Amino acid sequence: MSLEALNDPISHADSALNLNAYWMPFTANRAFKDNPRMIESADGFYYTATDGRKILDTLSGLWTSGAGHCHPKIVKAVQKQVAKLDYAVSFQIGHPGAFELAERLTKLAPEGFDHCFFTNSGSEAVDTALKIALGYHQVTGNPTRTHLVGREKSYHGVNFGGISVGGLSATRKMFSGSLLPNTHHLPHTHNLEQNAYSRGQPKWGAHLADELERIITLQDASNIAAVIVEPVAGSAGVLVPPVDYLRKLREICDRHGILLIFDEVITAFGRVGAAFACQRFDVIPDIITTAKGLTNGMIPMGAVLVRKEIYDAFMNGPEYAIEFFHGYTYSGHPVAAAAGLATLDVYEEEGLFECARENEKIFEDAIHSLQGTRHVIDIRNIGLMGAIELEPREDDPGVRGYEVHKQCFAEGLLVRNGMDILMFSPFLRFTQDLFEKAFDIVTNVLKKID
Ligand SMILES: Cc1ncc(COP(=O)(O)O)c(C=O)c1O
Repeated sequence: MSLEALNDPISHADSALNLNAYWMPFTANRAFKDNPRMIESADGFYYTATDGRKILDTLSGLWTSGAGHCHPKIVKAVQKQVAKLDYAVSFQIGHPGAFELAERLTKLAPEGFDHCFFTNSGSEAVDTALKIALGYHQVTGNPTRTHLVGREKSYHGVNFGGISVGGLSATRKMFSGSLLPNTHHLPHTHNLEQNAYSRGQPKWGAHLADELERIITLQDASNIAAVIVEPVAGSAGVLVPPVDYLRKLREICDRHGILLIFDEVITAFGRVGAAFACQRFDVIPDIITTAKGLTNGMIPMGAVLVRKEIYDAFMNGPEYAIEFFHGYTYSGHPVAAAAGLATLDVYEEEGLFECARENEKIFEDAIHSLQGTRHVIDIRNIGLMGAIELEPREDDPGVRGYEVHKQCFAEGLLVRNGMDILMFSPFLRFTQDLFEKAFDIVTNVLKKID
């Protein structure tokens, strides 16, 4: 089937809309503007397209909205807050919501994470965390610790720090002359020969953590500030950490005085059946970044959670002096804080992290039922994160995945593809019939697509 034939013929209601001005993020702008896929409202598990069709969302927004779209409690909290305190300067002035949310987050986080810095996105949380790690070594008398270690096939957002430690070449290649110096990369853990069709954590691959020792031997531990990894790599296509891999990283970092940062922008807030993935894996880092599910995606917000010792190390010098020259105009924004507080209430009141745990097996069975379907070369999952990897077309890597995305949308299903990997991040209280409905559509589309 040709690309054109698959372009869904959406006659959006607002055909008078001029699509030209908006430079869309992470989008094939020209192809999109030729054949737009437009949504105009959302409710629960569904979007409504501008042509009135209901679209079942299999990615909970963009891994953001685990509690369901337009959750009434969060909507109400936002409406109330925006009418009461629309904006509050957060440099040298405070407002109660940000303090309350920071306190609530530290209670959810593992013991010892007593402090929280607010940002507006995951990318900002990552760059903030890297700066905190570098600053920590400065204020504790180890100024040579300036090197940062990331991992291949990792995504840490799009700011310069994040793409430098990140491991997706597409986000780096245009800027390769301008990335942060002194960054190193662990090998990724993706290996279909060893781990294809793993359910949960693959058994093979823990030894790849030992590669950190090689980097340390070459650079010397006295120069290395931090290691940053996603506990489960999300955007690279749901790469689940092999059994014992994260524990090994922790142990090596401890042995060499290196800070361990977990980027939990996707994996926090129930995505793997716990408040934070580090709790599920029982490997506790020194710094956690998060965003997305923090406000259920309703208002942009990110956060960096740090252990008490890290915060305390900065709290020196004269009391009138600013300890960390960093922050954003919208750090701890009152409307975002209100959304965050209401979201945490919803998670708790509706028992959504437990729901995610209960749904994990149903999701696992549903997604693995596609084993043997045309084009499928791997399926993997953990918590409510899963991926179906398709065989790329010989001369056109990524096109098959993109066509599946478009055809699914035409058939009432939102599926995200990263190249030829289809990624799933269902709502925390998704039901068996919806899992079946979603994967039936995907199966039928795969049968149709070249
Ligand atoms: C692990 C991780 N870190 C950072 C980011 C960047 O977050 P944002 O798009 O909010 O800047 C993402 C986004 O998907 C992510 O998955």
